[in-house]
Amino acid sequence: MKQKSVLITGCSSGIGKCLAHGLRNRGYRIYATARQPADVDELAADGFESLRLDLDSSESIRYTVNEVLQRTDSKLYALINNGAYGQPGAVEDLSRETLRAQFETNLFGTQELTNLVIPVMRAQGEGRIIQMSSLLGIVCLAYRGAYNASKYALEALSDTLRLELRHSNIHVSIIEPGPIESRFRANAYAAFKRNIDREHSVYRDYYARVEKRLAGPKPMPFTLPPEAVLKKVIRALEARRPKARYGVTFSTHLFAVLRRVLPVRVLDQILSATGNGGRR
Ligand SMILES: NC(=O)c1ccc[n+]([C@@H]2O[C@H](COP(=O)([O-])OP(=O)(O)OC[C@H]3O[C@@H](n4cnc5c(N)ncnc54)[C@H](OP(=O)(O)O)[C@@H]3O)[C@@H](O)[C@H]2O)c1
Repeated sequence: MKQKSVLITGCSSGIGKCLAHGLRNRGYRIYATARQPADVDELAADGFESLRLDLDSSESIRYTVNEVLQRTDSKLYALINNGAYGQPGAVEDLSRETLRAQFETNLFGTQELTNLVIPVMRAQGEGRIIQMSSLLGIVCLAYRGAYNASKYALEALSDTLRLELRHSNIHVSIIEPGPIESRFRANAYAAFKRNIDREHSVYRDYYARVEKRLAGPKPMPFTLPPEAVLKKVIRALEARRPKARYGVTFSTHLFAVLRRVLPVRVLDQILSATGNGGRR
């Protein structure tokens, strides 16, 4: 049987790297992409067909899609939109540029890439689009407004796309992980230091605690290894009728239910305690 090709974004670490290895072991032909040239080289040294793909650059997106299609005779079974980062900071401390940067990567670049791939999937008569959302695409936590908004928006575009592709044999599945071991927190901490003016914020004291949490080694409760995400991605790739949503971790399943059954006031209390958001 001919190998099915899968393009994955953000393979330098964490979930993307795990997906690249796990799906290759399962027999897929993986196009493992990363933003930094050094990571592309490392993936190549690991035996991957690796390419540079920076979601912030239309040129990079177009170049990589063209390159992949040349190598696969214009076939691509699946796209896994995994690459993203978290921008911490209170909503009132987010500059227009900081909010835009979060959306450029997590939403605009991701959708631009998806829109280049859909015609290929239409032409071959099948395809799978897998969107890495988050527990924070289901409920919001304080001081994560930019990231929350980007994942809610990704969920909305994914739901719309699913309706529009209903009769196309192209399936859109959303993966919703809770806390997963990866470089996510370290990268979020870097974005926090880069883009939030902590000294002049009304949240200055709270931010000192945020920095401790982001820099510290203690994982969030119910954290799982990235292999937990891999399991759900395999289902989304291989089920005859993949589900619209796959939750990963206890926290995701719990909050998906709580959001439906609890009054907003009660849910807010729980979310404030969970995200440290209630205390300043
Ligand atoms: N870890 C969690 O707890 C968790 C929970 C829910 C959802 N998620 C989602 O899971 C996905 C993977 O995150 P992760 O946990 O594996 O974190 P990670 O280790 O930080 O990996 C994120 C990946 O995205 C890449 N990326 C960032 N900006 C990019 C850009 N402009 N263009 C292309 N790639 C870019 C990163 O590349 P660089 O190395 O170059 O920065 C890295 O490869 C994300 O969509 C995240 O929102 C994670």
